[in-house]
Amino acid sequence: MNKWFKHIGLAIALMFSAVCFANGADAPVEPQASDAQIWAQLKDGATGYTTSDSQFHNQPINTYDLRVLELRSDWLAPGLMLALFGMIIIFALFIMVNGISKLHHGFSGKMVHRWSKFDVSIHWLGAIPCLLLILTGLVLLAGRFFFQPYLGEGFWASMVNGAKQVHDVMAIPFMFGWALMTLLWAKNQLPKMYDVKWFMVVGGYINFGPFKGKHPDAGFANAGEKMWFWAFAFFGLIISASGMLLLFPNLFEPSRTLSLIALVLHSISAIIICAFSIVHIFMATVMSEGGMECMISGYCDENWATQHHNLWYDEIKANGTLKYRD
Ligand code: HEM
Repeated sequence: MNKWFKHIGLAIALMFSAVCFANGADAPVEPQASDAQIWAQLKDGATGYTTSDSQFHNQPINTYDLRVLELRSDWLAPGLMLALFGMIIIFALFIMVNGISKLHHGFSGKMVHRWSKFDVSIHWLGAIPCLLLILTGLVLLAGRFFFQPYLGEGFWASMVNGAKQVHDVMAIPFMFGWALMTLLWAKNQLPKMYDVKWFMVVGGYINFGPFKGKHPDAGFANAGEKMWFWAFAFFGLIISASGMLLLFPNLFEPSRTLSLIALVLHSISAIIICAFSIVHIFMATVMSEGGMECMISGYCDENWATQHHNLWYDEIKANGTLKYRD
């Protein structure tokens, strides 16, 4: 039996049995029962009495629909592990075989304005909490199956408790970052016909075969970035709404069915955002030479702009908004 859960169960059971169980609850826990009996009854959905008057207050373990436990252990937890570690392995192998996308004419040294300071700030306001949410979410969703068996009891208890605290707090800045990025950047992320061609040659990032040396047209954002942006906008909405429901049950008072739906949607969205994030991070830091500078200073090298975002560069040059760093 999982010792940590046993302790929590026992603590709750003791609280219950100390105060109550004389009040005609459905299946009261016997005050004299052994630890194992108490735990078994709690897992069977035993109810008791508390001074709270919120819904479901008297049932510490929800046995409403146990199919969600199987879904969680067999699909969602392995899914998130794969989205994180699987994508890292796949992308690392891809880069080893394919190599990165170098600037064909090297760095020009002339830096073109691309993102404002405010844009860079809201990117990191969303991105840093997002990364922490992915890591702590992994502990909360998959840790029990993949990490706990290899960790000491005390270490695991501290780890899962810390993950829960960080996860709850980081949700708030993440949502601000998500809302600002989604609202302010959407106009540059609208799909265009030339995006189809970008996908057909995989953005020119393949360094062999018929794809080698291709430079598909791209505006301010290329087709891959647009796909990431809209996935982030949509699943960011789902993950934020479901997360709020789970974080503030007293405020929204969801039914048990809605809570379980929120839990499942939250995990599915996390898997998708995590997989995209890994690709996005690899693209920004390793794959696209010179790309990272955009989200540090807000400027990009002129050769990077002409190679990766030719239509945007031509447009700002033509309309006079091209601005170099002093
Ligand atoms: C270490 C982690 C990350 C790095 C190094 C990074 C880097 C970058 C860079 C360099 C850009 C600008 C690309 C361009 O100008 O064309 C960018 C854009 C963007 N980032 Fe990140 N990012 C990271 C994590 C994240 C995370 C976790 C999120 C999600 C919250 C995110 C969301 C976005 C979005 C929505 C865009 C605009 C679309 C795009 O240009 O791809 N980033 N990021």
